[in-house]
Amino acid sequence: MSSGARSHTAPPPADRPPVSLPRLAEMKAKGEPIAMITAYDYPSAKVAEEAGADVVLVGDSAANVVLGYSGTEAVTLEEMIVLGKAVRRGLRTPLMVGDMPMGSYESSNELAIQNAQRLVKETGCQTVKLEAGGISVERARAIVRSGIPVMGHVGLTPQTATALGGYKAQGKTAQSAIQLCEDALALQAVGCFAIVFEAVPAAISEAIVEKLEVPVIGIGAGPAPAGQVLVFHDLLGITTGRMAKFVKRYANVHDEMVGGVRTYIEEVRTHHFPEPDHVYGVEPAELAEFRRYLDQESLTSAKAWDWEPLP
Ligand code: KIV
Repeated sequence: MSSGARSHTAPPPADRPPVSLPRLAEMKAKGEPIAMITAYDYPSAKVAEEAGADVVLVGDSAANVVLGYSGTEAVTLEEMIVLGKAVRRGLRTPLMVGDMPMGSYESSNELAIQNAQRLVKETGCQTVKLEAGGISVERARAIVRSGIPVMGHVGLTPQTATALGGYKAQGKTAQSAIQLCEDALALQAVGCFAIVFEAVPAAISEAIVEKLEVPVIGIGAGPAPAGQVLVFHDLLGITTGRMAKFVKRYANVHDEMVGGVRTYIEEVRTHHFPEPDHVYGVEPAELAEFRRYLDQESLTSAKAWDWEPLP
């Protein structure tokens, strides 16, 4: 299919059972691709639900795509909780993953468990995701042991992008591919149920995926992973400007929205909106009685309050 083509397949059955961790493992075992997408509010969650997503991530990419920060470092746990609660209200079937923002898990196992519990209790997500290897492996182990399933995330990890030298593909040298492989194996060993690979050369990703038992979810990691994830606003063309190489646009919603709002403004200015279909009627007798009330002397002589600016 060409990148401009649209293929709207049949909607998923309304009675789909909720996606569980065993179901994800089964999908990987059977070679059924896992479709994951981000969502940040009630409408985007409803879209993910209706379209049939298997996994929905309340990603800290919310920082960029919905809150307007320049990077994911800025988003707080409190903000993630507000977004997560809205997503929960729009989801029934997909497994919901809550992203742990920068600063919410790195400094100790206790902090990591406490904040993972907050995400689960306050938003209703069933699982959490944290970024990188190294110290995050210990944090993932602690959270898993506390009873909360964890998704890992290696390769390009936006929370530590500065330390990685910027937003660029990871694992391009043998040395960094080895590090990536070790991080992924370590995250699997401490119990992560799945691992995101972001911006990793396809051949490196394929080679590591073969060594892992848990499902890998790729974003810019080629076709080998058991699943794929994209950011809702990127794939629908709600975000504008330069996109990462791995983003494929399936719609151009930004332009549609600007067009719609522009037409509305134009119709307001030219008195074409509202039309008769958009107004409420009133019984003639009620209107007549109301007019008699307005015609009273006390109202016809009413004046606007002659206000003066405060000194
Ligand atoms: O925050 C996010 O959207 C993510 C995905 C890119 C995996 O971490």
